[in-house]
Parts: sequence; C-alpha cells; structure tokens
Amino acid sequence: MCVSISRYISLIVLVIFLLVDKAQFSVPHYGPSNQPEAYLNGSYIRLLTTISLKKQTGISFRTCVGGNLFSQQQKDEMFELIVKKDSILFFAKISGKMFEERMPGNYTNNKWHTVYLQYTVGNLTMTVDDQTKLIANSSYNHEVLTSPGLYNEGAAVLLIGKQFNGCIQEGPSIVFDKNIISFSQNVIFGPCPLTDDSCE
Ligand SMILES: *[C@@H]1O[C@H](CO)[C@@H](O)[C@H](O)[C@H]1NC(C)=O
Ligand SMILES: *[C@@H]1O[C@H](CO)[C@@H](O)[C@H](O)[C@H]1NC(C)=O
Ligand SMILES: *[C@@H]1O[C@H](CO)[C@@H](O)[C@H](O)[C@H]1NC(C)=O
Ligand SMILES: *[C@@H]1O[C@H](CO)[C@@H](O)[C@H](O)[C@H]1NC(C)=O
Repeated sequence: MCVSISRYISLIVLVIFLLVDKAQFSVPHYGPSNQPEAYLNGSYIRLLTTISLKKQTGISFRTCVGGNLFSQQQKDEMFELIVKKDSILFFAKISGKMFEERMPGNYTNNKWHTVYLQYTVGNLTMTVDDQTKLIANSSYNHEVLTSPGLYNEGAAVLLIGKQFNGCIQEGPSIVFDKNIISFSQNVIFGPCPLTDDSCE
C-alpha cells in the first residue's frame, strides 16, 4: 500500500517536472546578451526569435544614413521599422493593405535614439526617445492587432538592420545572443565605430 502511494507520488512529480521543463523550453526568454552592440553596413542579422507586437520591443540606433531597423515577414504579411531622413516609419502590410505611422524628426544625426513598441491597455504605441505615437487600437488600424499572420510567431522571419548603415543596440525582444543568431556575416559586434565627424 505504502509503496504504491509513494510510486504514485513520484510519478506525479515526474509528470509535473516534465511539463514544467517542456514549458520552459518552448518559451525561451533571453536577457541581455554579451554582444549587445553591432555595426551594420550592407549586411543584416537574422534571429531565430520573433517579435510580437503585443509584447514590448525595443531597439537603439546611431546612424548618419538610416535604413531598416527590423522587418518581420510571414508569407505576405509583414511589419517593419525604418529610419528615414525625416522620420521613423512603422510600416505593415496585411492582406494587401498597407499601414503606415510616422514619427517625424531628424534621427539620422549621429546620436543614439531608442524606439519602443508597446501594447498597453489596448493601445499599440511607438515611443521614440520621449515622444509617443499611436499605431493601433481596437478602433484604429485594428488589423495590426488582430491579423493572425502577424502573430504566427513560429513561422515568421525576423531580420535586423537590413540596408541599415550604422550601429544598433539590442533591447527587449531583440537580443543578439549567439544561440539565436542564424546569420550575421559582415556584422561587427562591439562598441560603435562611428565618431563625432562620421556624418561629414
Ligand atoms: C561601408 O561599406 C562601404 C561599401 O562596402 C565601404 O566603402 C565603407 O568603407 C564601409 N564603412 C565602414 C565604416 O566600414
Ligand atoms: C540631421 O542632422 C544632421 C546632424 O546635425 C545633419 O548633418 C543632417 O543634415 C540633418 N538631416 C536633415 C534631413 O535635416
Ligand atoms: C489609448 O489611446 C487613446 C487615444 O490616443 C487615449 O485616449 C487613451 O487614453 C489611451 N489609453 C491608454 C490606456 O493609454
Ligand atoms: C483609439 O485611438 C483613437 C485615435 O486616437 C481614439 O479616438 C480612440 O478613442 C481609441 N480607442 C480606444 C478604445 O482607446
């Protein structure tokens, strides 16, 4: 009797252990890496992880030229963040429909800037340094929050810094951990090589 109960208990413990272990494996969390800063000049970083617009995403950059900070694509559905000469552009394409939101400003001025995308109480917003702009909520651009194609996280491809020229620093959801980088040829990891007169 006693033996069978203790066997039963150890079986339950084993099942719980396996479930917890499986859960931790299927939801990896990566904190800051040991190579948080990268210089890109015509290359890109491909990560094995993806971005969910419903979780916090952050990235910092310093550039004289601009380019694509990240783009995530799954078949015909995609979203991206681009540093232009006069703004930062959030762009999404969902079932052939385009969505665009811009934060105007000169962000190609060789200074560090940080962009956060965050979803708080129903509003998806883009914050650049200390300015915030609405991207979507339940009554505005709602497809950005509801399109299954944008949230098919396992199948999407995330590229960082494609056609971007300058330095990028990792942040929440975009981490340069060696275990999750699947491509980074010609990317230089380390302190940003840009100098005060790099834009001249
Ligand atoms: C960036 O790439 C261009 C073209 O390949 C090259 O001429 C330039 O020297 C590179 N800049 C740096 C800082 O490596
Ligand atoms: C942005 O700022 C940089 C540095 O001050 C300057 O060189 C550049 O011309 C500015 N760009 C625009 C589009 O105003
Ligand atoms: C969501 O955005 C709307 C419109 O900008 C604003 O009125 C509302 O307060 C925001 N809600 C939250 C929780 O920030
Ligand atoms: C969504 O944003 C729009 C535009 O700013 C605003 O008018 C509306 O109140 C917001 N809706 C909610 C549910 O916050």
